[in-house]
Amino acid sequence: MIVLGIETSCDETGVALLDSHGNVRAHGLHSQVDMHRDYGGVVPELASRDHIRRLLPLLEGALASARLRLSDVDAIAVTAGPGLVGALLVGASVAYALGYALDRPVLDVHHMEGHLLSPLLARPKPEFPFVALLVSGGHTQLMRVDGFGAYRLLGETLDDAAGEAFDKTAQLLGLGYPGGPAVSRLAEFGTPSALAFPRPMLHSRDLNFSFSGLKTAVLTAVRQAGNLCEQVRADIARAFVDAVVEVLVRKSMAAVEQAGLRRLVVAGGVSANRQLRAALQRETGRAGIELFFPPPELCTDNGAMIAMAGLAQLQAGAAEKRLGFGVRPRWPLGAD
Ligand code: KG4
Ligand code: ZN
Repeated sequence: MIVLGIETSCDETGVALLDSHGNVRAHGLHSQVDMHRDYGGVVPELASRDHIRRLLPLLEGALASARLRLSDVDAIAVTAGPGLVGALLVGASVAYALGYALDRPVLDVHHMEGHLLSPLLARPKPEFPFVALLVSGGHTQLMRVDGFGAYRLLGETLDDAAGEAFDKTAQLLGLGYPGGPAVSRLAEFGTPSALAFPRPMLHSRDLNFSFSGLKTAVLTAVRQAGNLCEQVRADIARAFVDAVVEVLVRKSMAAVEQAGLRRLVVAGGVSANRQLRAALQRETGRAGIELFFPPPELCTDNGAMIAMAGLAQLQAGAAEKRLGFGVRPRWPLGAD
């Protein structure tokens, strides 16, 4: 069986062909970063138009590299939300048109469920149950995952997402968009403990997060520095990264302990972060906890994670064929 996954919820066009064992037969990705950079962030209308331009050529490329034909596709999984409405509609229109033309089921996938299941694309892959730390541009959540569709929220951010904090910090440091990788690289040159930023909610006794105060700490440090020479910028980046990483790691370890599990899975764009990976590896190694990440190229948005979530739905018995379709720009994970 071959599942086609389509992702167009934000600024990445992704397609992938996945077999029934969860092996990626081919995947194609186009990032719109260069197009949005001049505007300092994603411009929704430009995003939608670019998805229209990219999606079908990416699909043709993926089919060719997997040596498959469109008729070999057995089901189509598409991100139905959350995300930008116009961008989501591009993927959904193509998915449902293909479903109709090929007489195949189309499966609506929650974008964050895609991220949540993306570590299953790694080899070795985690067994259920596990605790998942989901860290993306829009979400920071800790979940207990007992199986496909069996997710329980343990804690989440009360304000900014971790990725959003990276992006805002990048802007304040003049690093442009998108900020995560740039802040991470600059932090490597920072002096440890040159600045001390707060660790928001580290001792809150729950599993929630708050990152908006860190943005204020960065802003204050930038203002106080006046002249932002390269070393000062690196020191600020370092202080920021150290604070975010410490909070994410400590709360994840607490979640694993409270859940009584020995397995941690980390997914979403920020899971590509080098410092976070290193700190988690160190701490879980010390505590004898198994740690899993998606393959690096599948940490940020992609079609393979959407195909994986679609495959999970199929294996749970979903095979309905529908003509009408809609998207859900706002869609809490776990809501019907
Ligand atoms: O999962 P994703 O691609 O899209 C959303 O669903 O939001 O995550 C994008 C976020 C952005 O905020 C980006 O700055 C962040 O992930 N990100 C990183 C890194 N790579 C991407 N943050 C820190 N370090 C990175 N290496
Ligand atoms: Zn995402």
